[in-house]
Amino acid sequence: MCGIIGVTGTGPAVPRLIDSLKRLEYRGYDSAGVAALVDGKIERRRAPGKIRALEEVLVEQPLSSTIGIGHTRWATHGAPTRPNAHPHKAGRVAVVHNGIIENFAELKAELEAVGRVFESQTDTEVVAHMMDAALESGLEPTKALKSVLDRLTGAYALGVLIEGEDELLLGARRGSPLVVGWGEGEMYLGSDALAVGPFTQKISYLEEGDFVAIDRSGARMFDADGQAADRPIVQVSASAAMVEKGNYRHFMEKEIHEQPDSVQHTLAAYLDLAGMKAKPVESVDLAKIGRIQIIACGTAFYAGQIARYAFERLAGLPCDVEIASEFRYREPAVSKDTLAVAVSQSGETADTLASLTWCKRQGLKTAAVVNVHTSSMAREADVLWPTYAGPEIGVASTKAFTAQVAALLSLAVAAASARGRIAPEEEARLVKALFEAPRLIAETLADDSDLRDVAQELAKASDVIFLGRGQMFPLAMEGALKLKEISYIHAEGYAAGELKHGPIALVDEQTPIIALAPLDAVFEKTASNLQEVAARGGPVIMVTPIGAPSPHGTAVWRVSVPDCDPYVAPLVHAIPVQLLAYYTAVQKGTDVDQPRNLAKSVTVE
Ligand code: M6R
Repeated sequence: MCGIIGVTGTGPAVPRLIDSLKRLEYRGYDSAGVAALVDGKIERRRAPGKIRALEEVLVEQPLSSTIGIGHTRWATHGAPTRPNAHPHKAGRVAVVHNGIIENFAELKAELEAVGRVFESQTDTEVVAHMMDAALESGLEPTKALKSVLDRLTGAYALGVLIEGEDELLLGARRGSPLVVGWGEGEMYLGSDALAVGPFTQKISYLEEGDFVAIDRSGARMFDADGQAADRPIVQVSASAAMVEKGNYRHFMEKEIHEQPDSVQHTLAAYLDLAGMKAKPVESVDLAKIGRIQIIACGTAFYAGQIARYAFERLAGLPCDVEIASEFRYREPAVSKDTLAVAVSQSGETADTLASLTWCKRQGLKTAAVVNVHTSSMAREADVLWPTYAGPEIGVASTKAFTAQVAALLSLAVAAASARGRIAPEEEARLVKALFEAPRLIAETLADDSDLRDVAQELAKASDVIFLGRGQMFPLAMEGALKLKEISYIHAEGYAAGELKHGPIALVDEQTPIIALAPLDAVFEKTASNLQEVAARGGPVIMVTPIGAPSPHGTAVWRVSVPDCDPYVAPLVHAIPVQLLAYYTAVQKGTDVDQPRNLAKSVTVE
C-alpha cells in the first residue's frame, strides 16, 4: 500500500532513500517524502505526486545526511497533499507508516486535550506525537516505542527517526510487513525485500508485533511483549535488475511479454515433463480432502474462479471461490475436510490474509498460491504453492494472473490423478496441453496487429461488454477489470448466456462486445449469443482460435489466437484480453503502470 525505507550508515542516505522509493512506487504514488538528520536536527522534504516531484524539491533544497527515512504514499486518511505526506513530525520525532491506526481519532483527541497541535489529517501523525511525548517523559527510545505500540489499534508498519539519536532508527510491524536489511556498516528498514534490494539481499523478516532498533552496526529485535527476539537473516533474490523496464515502454507491457517464461517456470514446478504427469503434492492429501475453498481479491479471485471449473469437472472436487472481503466477515459454515486456498500475487492483501488466518483458526488446512514467496501469506499458510512470475510492478496484474492459473490448473490435474478420476493417458494429454501453453502464448504475442486495430476502436467507447462461457466467464470479468483499471472505460464481464436476462438492453452501435470463444463444448452456444447481440447492432469482436467458424450470418471482427486444448484456453485467451486493455490505455494516454486511485498491494481493508 505505502512504501517504507530507512537507512542508517556512513554514506549519503538521501540518494539511497530516493533510489528505493522509486522501486517502491508500485505500492503507492499519491505523495512522497523523506526525513533526515542534518546537524542533529530533523529536516523533511515532501511533495504531492510521484517521486520525481520529490526529486525536484530535493534539487532546490538538498539534504545531506547519513541517516533518514522515506515514504511513498497511497492515501487512506487525508487527501494526497504535502501536509498529509509522510514523514510526519512532532517535536524530536519523524514517522513513516504503512497501514491504518484505527483508534487514531480517540488518540488525537487525547493529545489535543494536552495542547498538541496537528498539521495533517492523517492517522499517522498521532504516532509521531505519542512517541515524542513518551521520549519527553524520560523513556529511552525502544521503551518509548513499546509504550506507543501498546496503545495502537490497527495494522501498521512504522519507521521512526529521532533527533539526538544520530545512528538510530526504530521500526515496528503489526499486520503490515517490515524487513530489516543487513549491509556492510549500513543497516536498512524496508516495507519489503524490494525496498532494500538495491543495497542488500540479507534480510530479517520481522514477525507480527515485533519492533526493532537498528544502527550502523546491527539490529536489536523485540517481540510483541518487549522480549529480545532473534529473527534469522535470510538471503533473498530481490535482484535490482529484475525490476527494470528494459526496452519496454511500460512495466505492464514487459510483464505481458514475460508470460511464456513465467507460465513455463510455474508449470515446471508442478508438472513432470519427462514422466508426463503431475508432480505429487506431498504436503496435502488431495485424495482425502472433501472441498476446496478459494479466497482471493481482484484478478486473483478470477484466477480462482477459472480453477473452480478444473477442480470440479476434472477432479470431482467441490470448489467454492469467494471474494476475501466478503468471506472474512460472513462467518461461513466450513467443514473440517475443507482445504482453504488463498490466491494472491503479493501475499499481503489484507482481506485475503485475514481470511486465511480465520480459516486456520477454524482448524482448516491452509495453502497459499502466492508470487512473493517471503510474504505474510506464504509464511502464514500450512502449505506454500508458489507461482514463479517474478516481481510484478505494473499495478494491473498480468503475468501473476497467468502464473496463478497455470499453478491451479496443474494442481487440478494432480488432484484428479490422486483421486483416481483420470487415467494416466488423460493425465499425460493434459500435461502435454499445459506444457504447450508457453509456446501458444508466445505465438499470440508475436502477432498483435489485430489487437492494436481493435484498441483504436475501444478507446472511443464509453462502455464495453466482455462475454464468455465456462472458464471464459471469469476471464471475461478479468478482461473488464483490466480495461477499467488502466483505460478508465466502463466495462462489464458477463456470462454469455446471461446477457438476454437484462444486460442486452445496454447493447447499441456504440457498445463493443468482446466475446471470448475458444473451440470448446459450449462454442456453438456462445456463437448463438453473438448472433443475438449482432442482431441488435452491437459491434462484435470475437477472440477465437484460427480454426473456429464465424457465427452463421453474423458480421464479427475476429481476433485470432492459436488453436489450443480447451483446458489451457484461459492461458492463451488471457493474452489478447491483457493486450486489448494495454493498447487501449496507451491510445488514451493514461498512466498505464500507475493508474489513478490504485495501489499494487492493498494491505488495508
Ligand atoms: O496481491 P493480490 O493478488 O492479493 O492483489 C489482489 C488485487 O488487489 C489485484 O489483483 C488487483 O485487482 C489488480 N490491480 C488487478 O489488476
